[in-house]
Amino acid sequence: MPDIAYLNGSFMPIDQATVSINDRGFVFADGIYEVIVAYAGHPFRLTQHLRRLERSAAEIRLAIPKSTKQMEELIQAGIKRAGFDDTMIYLQVTRGAAPRQHAFPENVQPTFVATFREKPIIPADKRRSGVNLITIEDRRWGNCFVKSIALLPNTLAYQQAREAGAYEAILHSAAGIVHECSASNVFFVKEGRVITPAKTNKNLHGITRQVVLDFAEDLDIETVEATVSLDSLLEADEVFLSGTTMEVLGVIRIDDHTIGDGKVGPITERLFQHLSEVTQSSSA
Ligand code: PDD
Repeated sequence: MPDIAYLNGSFMPIDQATVSINDRGFVFADGIYEVIVAYAGHPFRLTQHLRRLERSAAEIRLAIPKSTKQMEELIQAGIKRAGFDDTMIYLQVTRGAAPRQHAFPENVQPTFVATFREKPIIPADKRRSGVNLITIEDRRWGNCFVKSIALLPNTLAYQQAREAGAYEAILHSAAGIVHECSASNVFFVKEGRVITPAKTNKNLHGITRQVVLDFAEDLDIETVEATVSLDSLLEADEVFLSGTTMEVLGVIRIDDHTIGDGKVGPITERLFQHLSEVTQSSSA
């Protein structure tokens, strides 16, 4: 099946989708996005993703040129056209194409793009063995709860992690307060409790983060949302990441610290299994 795109009202093969070099998404990263996964054709937590897209749009004073219903319908149509078992849907809205100027252009149609690709799979051995992280001081702007396409600091941190032989980077304040990772939220387990940084303007309010908190409650596991220090993460029994495409992924090392016994922890495993059961069931 070919990867397909939806651009300003039409579906097409992804390599035929082009936007203007005057698009403000291209020039200023003036736009927002969502990544959604559909399991067996069922978009998971679609309402929550579209609600966050609308919140991101409102925060940057951008009018999404489609209603929620229109976005739901085009997503279902794109999933059907793409024909993948599991589909990764990327939605992006920018302020549109206009000659480069900082001021918002007048009477310019926002650019609305969606792409439909096969959901990337995390190799089973990596899921089983867990991953390593590095820690980097957070250099991003102050509105990280907005899912902005201005991801240069995120990609620089992610690249630094990969070049250090790690999977991801934990982003923290100068004082050592944990915000999140460059492309995921982070949790830790201590004495049976699942703990994650509270929602602030320094982290994305992850959809999967909320799913994990809800599922932990379903499994009678106590959850805590709080201010988390790097030290508490290093002394954790378990650490794991959450995100739409990575789901729940165990962490076994942070910098040169081994987490727990150096294996993916039992609560991490239980939460991943529960998430898999729910996403694989047709009611997802
Ligand atoms: N990343 N924090 C950041 C900075 C993210 O980019 C993401 C998601 C998350 C997890 O949020 P959610 O559970 O809603 O996916 C947290 C997406 C998948 C991406 O950029 O590819």
